[in-house]
Amino acid sequence: MRTEQDTLSFDITPNANPMPEADRLEAFKALGFGTLFSDHMAVIRWSADRGWHSAEVTARAPFPMDPASAVLHYAQEIFEGMKSYRTADGRAVLFRPEENAKRFNDSARRMGMPELPEELFLEAVDKLVEIDAKWIPEGEGSLYLRPFMFANESFLGVRPAREYIFCVIASSVGPYFKGGAKPVTIWASKTFTRAAHGGTGAAKCGGNYAASLIAQAEAAQHGCDQVVFLDAAEKKWVEELGGMNVFFVMEDGSLVTPPLTGTILPGITRNSLIKLARDEGMTVHERLYSFEEWQADAASGKLKEAFACGTAAVVAAIGKVKFTEGEFEIADGQTGLVTTKLREQLVSIQRGRSNDRYGWLKVLDGV
Ligand code: PLP
Ligand code: COI
Repeated sequence: MRTEQDTLSFDITPNANPMPEADRLEAFKALGFGTLFSDHMAVIRWSADRGWHSAEVTARAPFPMDPASAVLHYAQEIFEGMKSYRTADGRAVLFRPEENAKRFNDSARRMGMPELPEELFLEAVDKLVEIDAKWIPEGEGSLYLRPFMFANESFLGVRPAREYIFCVIASSVGPYFKGGAKPVTIWASKTFTRAAHGGTGAAKCGGNYAASLIAQAEAAQHGCDQVVFLDAAEKKWVEELGGMNVFFVMEDGSLVTPPLTGTILPGITRNSLIKLARDEGMTVHERLYSFEEWQADAASGKLKEAFACGTAAVVAAIGKVKFTEGEFEIADGQTGLVTTKLREQLVSIQRGRSNDRYGWLKVLDGV
């Protein structure tokens, strides 16, 4: 039997009051991260009896919400982060969007939420980029896409909800860090952890970020850009930053990055950099790396560089690490050669400046 979901197509209603072009171009002159939103959003609804239904692209607007909406109480919410770029030759592209669609469903399963067919996830993203293509900034900026899903059943019992809203919004962005490409300073939290085995660390759910905010605030109080978390069981092993994975460059030219053991997010940037580095002939060890080792290697010179990576921040050198008992510097606080090279290789693929040898770009025809 065909369900409503099998024949689902998007109703498109253009925004009757889009932002005037002059205002948008003015806003493009000072792009930060996540404050400037495009004119539209894509929405698909799910209910236990109808499955996925009511797909639309419409003017970006608030959702009316009952105070008993399940997400407000038990935080059933997941999201993704991805970017659309305008290449120098004028194409609009997405970077590995299928990976976001897959990870979204991994997160959905972990949170007891319905999976969204990958083709619907991708269609929603494509349709939003198509209608809001003028929001993709030229040059160094990009259009950050935020697909997310939340429970919207009005019910206070504790069980997976029977109604959900999936939505994609878009934000024209510049650099994630205020300092631009300058190396970042990070705070190693010995007080707060992010995720334990069996928990939700590998899912991209809002709750992980809610739990990280106090540590991020602690980092800011110490003049740091980001927090790096240690594992919850021993507070010994380096895991990841609040919103990025982490890599270490050793003196023999090899890379070390924490393994995917269920407590960290399997970053798409992480995965792409591992591939690029291995194809360059570099050895990449996905292994546990302790905070003590990090300190000792920085002191002895065995550690040459460290960097953080993710969709929002791309690749950011880590110049300094602070913690309760002290601080240490890496690569004299500069951006190292390996970090620079890997960043450039990744960015040049993302922006269509070099051959897309892995088929990572999805070109949006006619956009
Ligand atoms: N780790 C966390 C906690 C994140 O929020 C992100 C960002 O999405 C990443 C790692 C990097 O993932 P990706 O490279 O897929 O953006
Ligand atoms: C991303 O890099 O897309 C993230 O989600 C990190 C942060 C903005 C939450």
